Amino acid sequence: MAVKVKINGEVREIDAPEEMPLLWALRQELGMVGTKFGCGKALCGACTVHVDGVAMRSCSTPIGSIGEGEVTTIEALGQTELGRALQDAWLEEDVMQCGYCQAGQLMSATALLLRNPEPSARQIDAAMSGNICRCACYTRIKSAITQVAESGVAKKGKANA
Ligand code: FES
Ligand code: FES
Repeated sequence: MAVKVKINGEVREIDAPEEMPLLWALRQELGMVGTKFGCGKALCGACTVHVDGVAMRSCSTPIGSIGEGEVTTIEALGQTELGRALQDAWLEEDVMQCGYCQAGQLMSATALLLRNPEPSARQIDAAMSGNICRCACYTRIKSAITQVAESGVAKKGKANA
């Protein structure tokens, strides 16, 4: 029986077992390859998506566990003001090197600013600590998040929510 999952605002039917990790369903069943496979063991953060706005490791989230939850992936990041602000800040700070980890970094950063629009430096470090970057772009990632936090975009989004 197909598993129904709401992804980026659309209910998708995935013809796969309930225990299939969401990452596999996104990439292999739905062809949504923006979300990356890194470790497959919830250790690197490359596969981060949101379920109801909360950062989740899709490699260790079975599709059958999502239920009514709403999944957001990197493909939909630019649909919100906050997501666009983060994308712009990433470009402005020239964050990326190889880019492989960056979808996960952006999804974790968005989830942080959604729940805490004005994070301290320590809170940014804590929220991003599970996202590994082999190119060590950590300083620029932090600068980009700080830039968006200071712009007030996330705060504005929260006030309108
Ligand atoms: S691929 Fe999911 S945390 Fe590494
Ligand atoms: S930019 Fe290369 S792994 Fe992060």
